[in-house]
Amino acid sequence: MFEKVRVTTGIPYLDALTQGGFIKGSTNLVIGPAGAGKTICGLHFLLEGAKKNENGLLVAMQEPPWAIRRDASNFTFFDHNYFVEPEKVVMLDFTPSGWELWDPDSLSYAEGSEMILEAEGVPYDETSLPTFLHKVFYHISEVIEEKKIERVVIDPLAAFRFYDYGNDYGFLRKLTTGFLTNIASLNVTTVAISELASSSEQSLFGEEYIADSIFHLDMLSVRGELVRILRISKMRGTNHSTKTLRYKITNNGITFIEPEDE
Ligand SMILES: Nc1ncnc2c1ncn2[C@@H]1O[C@H](COP(=O)(O)OP(=O)(O)OP(=O)(O)O)[C@@H](O)[C@H]1O
Ligand SMILES: [Mg+2]
Repeated sequence: MFEKVRVTTGIPYLDALTQGGFIKGSTNLVIGPAGAGKTICGLHFLLEGAKKNENGLLVAMQEPPWAIRRDASNFTFFDHNYFVEPEKVVMLDFTPSGWELWDPDSLSYAEGSEMILEAEGVPYDETSLPTFLHKVFYHISEVIEEKKIERVVIDPLAAFRFYDYGNDYGFLRKLTTGFLTNIASLNVTTVAISELASSSEQSLFGEEYIADSIFHLDMLSVRGELVRILRISKMRGTNHSTKTLRYKITNNGITFIEPEDE
């Protein structure tokens, strides 16, 4: 029948609240404002995979891989050895300065990419979102197959805004749906990072409807102190916690504060 295999999140407390973590093959959103800990969440997920021999892929779209590794160096769960050949975590640089976009030789897709896109009925245009997403998808699907990737993090979807989509929201949503669904069809479990100024705001591309689960991270100011909170607003097929959970970020990464600890 339809057996649900769980993929651990890398944060044991979250696994306990979600019947064991993400559903294998699902697309999961981590949404929150700048500095909420979204990238750190993604790293927990990937490093957990590396420890379990489940290879991971980080698709960097805004903060370049070298900066992500630099910033994560302090974390006790982080190990740079997983990022060197033969990598357990592969990082691809699709940031505006990234080598996958600037160096045509690094991108197998660059060779004949116009032809591939035209065959798929997409006009080739370096500045357009369809061209960008086709390039990214083609490249990551090759890496997923070659490196036997099981876990994917896309950080963040907001970078789609760097490219032209004709200011047509419906088209943007269609492209985002196609992109995320095609990645899911490669039999990987995905964490897609999404940006929101506050949890009451609507997402940029309707990604909350595409995703199988949503983890909202938020920050409040309480008596002059930054308080971090997480809530799971959706998790298809899962009896998940509906509580607002408090967490902190320390050298151990994200840790939750149980009510009795307060
Ligand atoms: N060692 C540490 N101890 C305590 N807090 C830390 C530590 N390292 C990072 N942080 C906190 O984590 C935040 C950065 O987390 P992260 O990079 O995951 O945010 P983000 O949600 O991805 O933000 P952005 O949207 O800007 O990329 C820092 O602003 C800081 O508050
Ligand atoms: Mg980030």
